[in-house]
Amino acid sequence: MKIDFESVALAQCETPVLVVACFESGSTPLRDSERSRTVSDQPKGSPVSSGTVELLPAETRALLEELKASGELTGKALETTLLHRPAGLAAKKLLIVGAGKKEKVSTDLMRRLAGTAMRYLRARGVHELAWVVQDAGGPVAVQAVVEGAIVADYDADRYRTEPNFERRIDRMALTTGGAPSSDALRAAAERGRIIAEAQNFVRDLVNEPSNRMTPTILAEQSQKMAARFGLECRILDADEIRSRKMGALWAVAQGSDEPPKLIVLRYEPPDLPDARQSGAPHSPVIGLVGKGVTFDTGGISIKPAEAMHEMKTDMAGGATMLGVMQAIAQLKPRVRVLALVPATENMPSGKAYKPGDVITSMSGKTIEILNTDAEGRLVLADALTYAKELGATVLIDAATLTGAVTIALGNTTTGVFGWNKEWVDKVLKSAEAAGERMWPLPVDEEYRELYKSTIADLANTGGRYAGASTAAMFVGEFAGDTPWVHLDIAGTRWSNEEKPYRAKGPTGHGVPTLVHLLTSLGN
Ligand code: BES
Ligand code: MN
Ligand code: ZN
Repeated sequence: MKIDFESVALAQCETPVLVVACFESGSTPLRDSERSRTVSDQPKGSPVSSGTVELLPAETRALLEELKASGELTGKALETTLLHRPAGLAAKKLLIVGAGKKEKVSTDLMRRLAGTAMRYLRARGVHELAWVVQDAGGPVAVQAVVEGAIVADYDADRYRTEPNFERRIDRMALTTGGAPSSDALRAAAERGRIIAEAQNFVRDLVNEPSNRMTPTILAEQSQKMAARFGLECRILDADEIRSRKMGALWAVAQGSDEPPKLIVLRYEPPDLPDARQSGAPHSPVIGLVGKGVTFDTGGISIKPAEAMHEMKTDMAGGATMLGVMQAIAQLKPRVRVLALVPATENMPSGKAYKPGDVITSMSGKTIEILNTDAEGRLVLADALTYAKELGATVLIDAATLTGAVTIALGNTTTGVFGWNKEWVDKVLKSAEAAGERMWPLPVDEEYRELYKSTIADLANTGGRYAGASTAAMFVGEFAGDTPWVHLDIAGTRWSNEEKPYRAKGPTGHGVPTLVHLLTSLGN
């Protein structure tokens, strides 16, 4: 999809479809008392504001008054109203997207408005539209609109033999209504594009079935992305994983015929001195670690058949980190970032690890396996240890780690864990700024009792109670004193329903938050 700015007056904008946002009754500008006001006169306070119907010519607005009186137009969030040959406009059609209550406008809502318009129009054979951004909330809103549009223009139907290519939107013009577009708006649109395309990259990886997304293929995809965007990429193969004594990753991998890979990406900011020479004590090296289990059968502690196919998505944490790296390679924040993706299958076989086994992790800590389905924390353990060895001074991991987090927070909200309040807060603040739902869950000394082993240093499960917390804490044991934040994305990696603004399937959740965090650290 091509995205560009257009500066003709709204009435003269010749487009197949002009799209405007409209607030709910009571807060819409269609009331007499508000008629003369413009959006920029609205009370400040909300981060973004919209309601661009106000900018339409009087003739068109009179039409909207009629629709409103008849109850067809209410402005309720995500309502869509399409007018053909609208009076007063050069546009062939006018799409009015309901924006809900004015005081509830948020970045996330702006994304959803754009996404809803996009999917509504795609389904009706439209290929080109103009989105009114004049007075619509500045760069924050423009970024959100672009993000929402690109994320919406995606379907997870790659293996249909008759894919719906004609359903794609070719061009979105951002219409400034006569005002020239500023550098800030252009930069915001570009940022939105980069973040949304990174999310769609993540979604492509997560959506691939495990026969087409083995650890080897995931490694190749990483190398391809790294080469395209100028990142350093190194792949550790099975022999190197073994020779470096990554016993926890190896334990999971040993049951599979597909060889494991440990993917390592490195981003170096263009204008920082080389940390490996200067030691630069004040600039952190962020180590992103993403679980890359390309299929999780549960191993010998095998999962029920019912939903096992969903476990092709068990590399979503790894994919998220690859997406974040793709984005920052283009946005170039002034901070060093490493990304590690331990990639393996978790299979039952004659060679598989078994309940009761004791393994030695790379850190030297011994682990008693109580359940081979608690494999994510094992692959993360060695990847965290190796990330520290490579120089990471802050660790952030993302993983589809527990069913328990989904019970606690559902499909909408990522669980955030960590001992280091400063970094947990940084992540939560970034989530809020980026308009993603994330919520803190506890780590607590007392939970340690739950995953003690009688025979080894740790057991790999802590039972059902506080399952998301004990899984997180197990991972945290391998971060040691290094600041560490864990994101459990088991619920948020996937959307079970089709939404007006987004296809069913992989979500790319987490990318906006982490990109926001890294770019705010380094700028
Ligand atoms: N990959 C699963 C967690 C998962 C469940 C992700 C549902 C996405 C959707 C993980 O490896 C797992 O199996 N966790 C177990 C841990 C238990 C054995 C302690 C779980 O949550 O049941
Ligand atoms: Mn598992
Ligand atoms: Zn798993």
